[in-house]
Amino acid sequence: MPTYAQPAVTFVRGRGTELWDDGGRRYLDFLCGLAVTSLGHAHPVVAEALAAQASTLLHVSNLFGNEVGPRVAATLDRLLGGGGQVFLCNSGAEANECAIKLARRWGGSGPPGRGGGARGRYAVVSAYGSFHGRTMAALTATGQPSKHEAFQPLPEGFRYAAWNDIDDLGRLVDPTVVAAVLLEPLQGEGGVIPADPAFFRAVRRLCDERGVLLMVDEVQTGLGRTGRWWGFEHLLDAGVRPDVVMSAKALGNGVPIGACWARADVAAAFQPGDHGSTFGGQPLACSAALATLAVMEAEDVPARAAAAGARLGSAVADVRGVASVRGLGLLLAAELDTDVLAAHGGAAGVQAALLERGLVVNAVTPTALRLAPQLLVSDDEIDEAVGILAGALSGAGGPSA
Ligand SMILES: Cc1ncc(COP(=O)(O)O)c(C=O)c1O
Repeated sequence: MPTYAQPAVTFVRGRGTELWDDGGRRYLDFLCGLAVTSLGHAHPVVAEALAAQASTLLHVSNLFGNEVGPRVAATLDRLLGGGGQVFLCNSGAEANECAIKLARRWGGSGPPGRGGGARGRYAVVSAYGSFHGRTMAALTATGQPSKHEAFQPLPEGFRYAAWNDIDDLGRLVDPTVVAAVLLEPLQGEGGVIPADPAFFRAVRRLCDERGVLLMVDEVQTGLGRTGRWWGFEHLLDAGVRPDVVMSAKALGNGVPIGACWARADVAAAFQPGDHGSTFGGQPLACSAALATLAVMEAEDVPARAAAAGARLGSAVADVRGVASVRGLGLLLAAELDTDVLAAHGGAAGVQAALLERGLVVNAVTPTALRLAPQLLVSDDEIDEAVGILAGALSGAGGPSA
């Protein structure tokens, strides 16, 4: 279906930070499939785990147990500080759908006698500029009215606060109808715009005071990308957590898998039959996640991302034509100056020029490029990418061979 623009390049093979197209041309991947292949392409540990699982057991359904899914859940719970439970699904949008349904169930929605009246506290407050996915509830939680217009009527029960504005959010959190606040720690698709720590701490306090869940969408920011295991760790005091955390993207290093974690007393609002997924938690995807998480821990990817991000961010900030750099760890945006934007017809034109020269990035806004290489990226690869960027912005040389 015509949901995507015609692709400029078709890739056939990858290794680490490198990609090759169908003409045999090499590229440096500084986008990672939108922050997905955090351990690089074709990581041997993940590939071997998939091959072994594929010849052992692919799928049995959630009518039965399997040995892999619970190990993924236990690892995620440990990385989130313990005391929680996990629902496994297949994407970021589904992780958010699970969170939204959990918030309604926790808020008392449901038939009388199962912990609620017909409608309890049901509303979710998210932020303008946010992105939470494309399914109907995740789309509605996404605070971008332009994405809503074509799909009316949307599910009810969603409200939007100005980003980083605690007064606006506070006005919207009416505890008689609001079950949860849903935020990213850094708005990724919205332009790589970090939350203000003072705002996030105030949101946590407000949620505690009003008895509302704080649900944090770590789909893009989680699993080391920002230089900590979770983006919220940059924002909340040590030991202070959200009540619900959603993860996906990097969890399978390219194999589709998502997860919704919740504090055990919150997760207890769900009962058998309330939610499910045919593929969620199946052994094949979970074998990829288990291997990915093991490599991530062994390599200490948060530390790697912090160090590589510092190198990349400062080198990009020195490139002529870059006005500023923002972001955390290896989730960065380079804001381009007006001359560069005029010369290339906006950030999308710069993205195309970089692809021509063998560097994969994306225009996350009309004026900024997103840089999100794999977390094991080498210093040499960072230097090579910055050289390509500098060459493209200065107009020097042509496309690299
Ligand atoms: C913060 C955030 N949440 C949710 C999603 C949706 O994830 P998916 O495309 O896997 O459904 C994305 C995707 O970009 C995202 O960045």
